[in-house]
Amino acid sequence: MVVQVMRVSVALSPAEFPETPLSGRAALVVDVLRATTAAVAACEAGCRRLVPAPDAAAALALRDGPDTLLAGEQGGEAIAGFHLGNSPAEFTRARVAGRTVVLTTTNGTAAMLAAAGAAAVGLAALTNVTAAARWALLQGRDVSILCAGDNGAFSLEDAVCAGMLVARLADGAPGAALSEGAMAALGLGRYYATRLGRIGEDSPWARKLRRLGRAADVAACLRADVSLVVPALSAGGFVAHRPDATEVSAVVPARPGARGAESDA
Ligand code: MLT
Repeated sequence: MVVQVMRVSVALSPAEFPETPLSGRAALVVDVLRATTAAVAACEAGCRRLVPAPDAAAALALRDGPDTLLAGEQGGEAIAGFHLGNSPAEFTRARVAGRTVVLTTTNGTAAMLAAAGAAAVGLAALTNVTAAARWALLQGRDVSILCAGDNGAFSLEDAVCAGMLVARLADGAPGAALSEGAMAALGLGRYYATRLGRIGEDSPWARKLRRLGRAADVAACLRADVSLVVPALSAGGFVAHRPDATEVSAVVPARPGARGAESDA
């Protein structure tokens, strides 16, 4: 009998990206505060494409006419001369509908670019956590979740979101083989899922954003499932997908042999 088992890996920080398998997999990139939440908001508001750039100079070079908006942050602050910062609230229909957004941020866009070796890349935040898991299930592949973290290190909000994704993936693909990172994230996700607001106090980056006057952003980013949109990579830019819940059942990768615990080798 052939048993189909989905493998799920989680890189809890960028330090783990090099050993996280991407080839042939679906990747979900997570930067709850605030890059992937902003990307979800931009796609929800009808942005045509969201293009990640490694830094401000690269973003400027990617500008292509008046329909391109430059967006992002450095150290949590908006970048001088850019049209938009990285606050999800700025990505309104009036500003971004029908336009290309070139985004550069401290951690989030680096993680988006690092995921490019995957067979499919989607962006996940708390705001679209169920839709993002559904999108990943629909790819019919093993899944790697990349947490953007905080300057190369762990960040609580990304690990919690990763854990909530893992819970949904495991529900959709019973018997999924979870990496150690995925199991650790699952525990955090289970703990915080019913107390997301507490991340605003427990996360150092959330506390920093609040000190910078961004409490409203933190609160907006710590809401689960307010969007059904998943930005998915297509020809160098992320475009809005709306995965259909009815398509998900029984979509798991075909591979002989069940495995209890995953090795990424
Ligand atoms: C990042 O990419 O580092 C974050 O999105 C920074 C932020 O809070 O805007």
